[in-house]
Amino acid sequence: MDLFEYQARDLFAKHGVPVLAGEVIDTPEAAREITERLGGKSVVKAQVKVGGRGKAGGVKLAASADEAVARATDILGMDIKGHTVHKVMIAETAPEIVEEYYVSFLLDRSNRTFLSIASVEGGMEIEEVAATRPEAVAKIAIDAIEGVDKAKAEEIVAAAKFPAEVADQVADVLVKLWEVFVKEDALLVEVNPLAKVASGAVLALDGKVSLDENAEFRHPDFAELHDRAAANPLEAAAKAKGLNYVKLDGEVGIIGNGAGLVMSTLDVVAYAGEKHGNVKPANFLDIGGGASAEVMANGLEIILGDPDVKSVFVNVFGGITACDEVANGIVQALALLASKGEEVTKPLVVRLDGNNAELGRKILSDANHPLVQRVDTMDGAADKAAELAAK
Ligand SMILES: Nc1ncnc2c1ncn2[C@@H]1O[C@H](COP(=O)(O)OP(=O)(O)OP(=O)(O)O)[C@@H](O)[C@H]1O
Ligand SMILES: [Mg+2]
Repeated sequence: MDLFEYQARDLFAKHGVPVLAGEVIDTPEAAREITERLGGKSVVKAQVKVGGRGKAGGVKLAASADEAVARATDILGMDIKGHTVHKVMIAETAPEIVEEYYVSFLLDRSNRTFLSIASVEGGMEIEEVAATRPEAVAKIAIDAIEGVDKAKAEEIVAAAKFPAEVADQVADVLVKLWEVFVKEDALLVEVNPLAKVASGAVLALDGKVSLDENAEFRHPDFAELHDRAAANPLEAAAKAKGLNYVKLDGEVGIIGNGAGLVMSTLDVVAYAGEKHGNVKPANFLDIGGGASAEVMANGLEIILGDPDVKSVFVNVFGGITACDEVANGIVQALALLASKGEEVTKPLVVRLDGNNAELGRKILSDANHPLVQRVDTMDGAADKAAELAAK
């Protein structure tokens, strides 16, 4: 989960990384009082989860409260690379910036370790620095057990050739940033720029943090970091029911058990759809093992709530959970929805294979639901679902 800059700033502050004051607002007029409190000037910063905000005109200095309101008016509602600005941060203005550095910690999947990236040429995009002047970018592997102590931080500082007068401060920032990385279960913490100001102090002026959602159970406070404005309502509803659902833009609703099976179902449906007016999968939904009537009903409820869906393909391969249990789940789910007044009105194509497939198929046939049809091969069922969606 990527965070907004203001959320990253808050986490930095919590762990003692030096940051400037900043408050997030969603109406321009609110910039006035904050700017006055900050001494009559501020920096107005678009809060969007995409890089290059400054270049796009989303970071502006304001020399007065009036100007802050005017800049907030300009920036709120602005489109930055397809992201609409709903919030701006009104930040304290850094005293004269002398130098801009770059530091980050991230998970380095290819080397199965953590990585620190540091450069004294910060401010701009690090990818650009790495491409044009690779020697200006230091990359130091971090051992997961040993982490970053003072000595490791000094090693990074030396490798990136930070000037002697800021070495101690930068090392201290690195130790604290590593604390953010570990304690908050992050996959990325990045400061760009880490600025040296005229007084000689070093400050984190911009931060990016990406948190590991797999660790959410350890952090009840992660929940409030979710960007509800950006979340698709169907995805939000699915998440609330504990379902692995991703909204796509096609017409064939998909339910399957197991992420791999569901992904190949998407491919097969997209392929079959080419023959039927180019219909496509409407979603990814993995109901996992188990597939009880309740989970099946929850899944169907989400998919049938999607106005784009014209037909539904339930693709199940019985493994530990046998097909008869899944078939019973489907039958009970349809009854459950009917009893809630959410009668299924779109055609369902069900393919059951694997453990106890024969019994499962019989259960479905016996139930004889008018909108449910059984097709016993994956390709055949995908074709049928696509055909029904195209009607
Ligand atoms: N609080 C501040 N005071 C003074 N100058 C600032 C402040 N915040 C940012 N700046 C200046 O604006 C530049 C761009 O700001 P920032 O790094 O936050 O945005 P960005 O890099 O354009 O955005 P992104 O990280 O999304 O690419 C910084 O390099 C810095 O020179
Ligand atoms: Mg930046």
